[in-house]
Amino acid sequence: MVTERLKDISYAIRDIAIIADEVMKTGKEIYNLNIGDPVKYDFSTPHYISQALAEATFSGQNFYVDSLGVPELRYEVCKYEQNKNSINITPNDILITSGVTEGLFFLFAALLEKKNEILVPGPSYPIYITYSKFFDGVPVEYELNELNNWEPDIDDLRKKISDKTKAILINSPNNPTGVLYNSKNIKQIIELAGEYTIPIISDEIYDQIVFEKKYSCPATFTNDIPIIGLNGFSKAHLATGWRLGYVYYYDRNKQLVELKQSIEKMARARLCANSIAQYAAIEALKNPGSHTDEMVKKLKERRDYSYKRLVEIEGISCNRPDGAFYLFPKLDFNILNKWKNDKDFVINLLKETGICTVYGSGFGNYGINHLRMTFLPNLEKLEIIYDLLVKFVK
Ligand SMILES: Cc1ncc(COP(=O)(O)O)c(C=O)c1O
Repeated sequence: MVTERLKDISYAIRDIAIIADEVMKTGKEIYNLNIGDPVKYDFSTPHYISQALAEATFSGQNFYVDSLGVPELRYEVCKYEQNKNSINITPNDILITSGVTEGLFFLFAALLEKKNEILVPGPSYPIYITYSKFFDGVPVEYELNELNNWEPDIDDLRKKISDKTKAILINSPNNPTGVLYNSKNIKQIIELAGEYTIPIISDEIYDQIVFEKKYSCPATFTNDIPIIGLNGFSKAHLATGWRLGYVYYYDRNKQLVELKQSIEKMARARLCANSIAQYAAIEALKNPGSHTDEMVKKLKERRDYSYKRLVEIEGISCNRPDGAFYLFPKLDFNILNKWKNDKDFVINLLKETGICTVYGSGFGNYGINHLRMTFLPNLEKLEIIYDLLVKFVK
């Protein structure tokens, strides 16, 4: 009754929540470290942005808007990308989407069919794998090298390019590893893309959540290699539930014209993104507040605390994340031999302690024997969580 294409759909980050709900029914407190949603913790959507959303609805902006996005928002996004990243684009190069997620859906729809391939980082944000398969493509994971702070292994990437490769995806700062790819590696990936005439997709959703290192946008490293960037308002502007993002085409030699036009057709077929959220986003971009800086400051403290506690545990090792809000520790099952694998560990941890993390195998082949946990809760909560984790592992 149901199509083959839906049989492979999974999203470990939310699939684990189904088990957490069962555990919660037994009366146990659940510590959610599975979903990367800062708004669920003490990071609220800034008041002035919410105010702009309320004003938009009360002033009657409740109709369908332009499929490509409200023109003023496309203009502001373009200005923002030009100023922040000095990239040479126009408002015409912007498409407003229902989150980065919808942008990815459109791109994968436009690029993949008949087992064509897309190179995605491994470990991989699960949506890259799920959407590839949904569109009858093949997600080919290029290795992020754990022994080298999860930096991309360029030789591995080169080996995996084939005549079926339709795009190379970069996600830096990265989910789930937290690595910010260094500039040398980004340049090498861009050179490879040029050599094989493959476009780059750059998921930049965490670009503003970086700690010690400085973020550089991939598009700043090239004049002629086409880059399709994705970003949005979920993380940096603390509006995850509003579902608002954008795609930009950095395409100085007009190599993406057909792709862009096809995606615009899809955008028209889905009518438009949320109208009032777009008006609020205009306000967020016109008057950037201090919320992102404040969030990063708090997150850095929480990362430092979590990292310190985590690496003290025997059988667990971890790289310190450069950005985003995830830790991706490795579990050594020679020491942690009470559990069969990462999924077994995560489910037992959840049932015994209420700590809800995500099994690394949900992030593709390179995620096996790991788990992903956010460091979003406040320090008091984190202390409780890490005390429980230490006791559980012992
Ligand atoms: C790497 C990455 N891309 C995209 C998304 C989804 O972004 P959006 O809320 O804009 O759809 C997430 C959410 O966690 C993410 O981690």
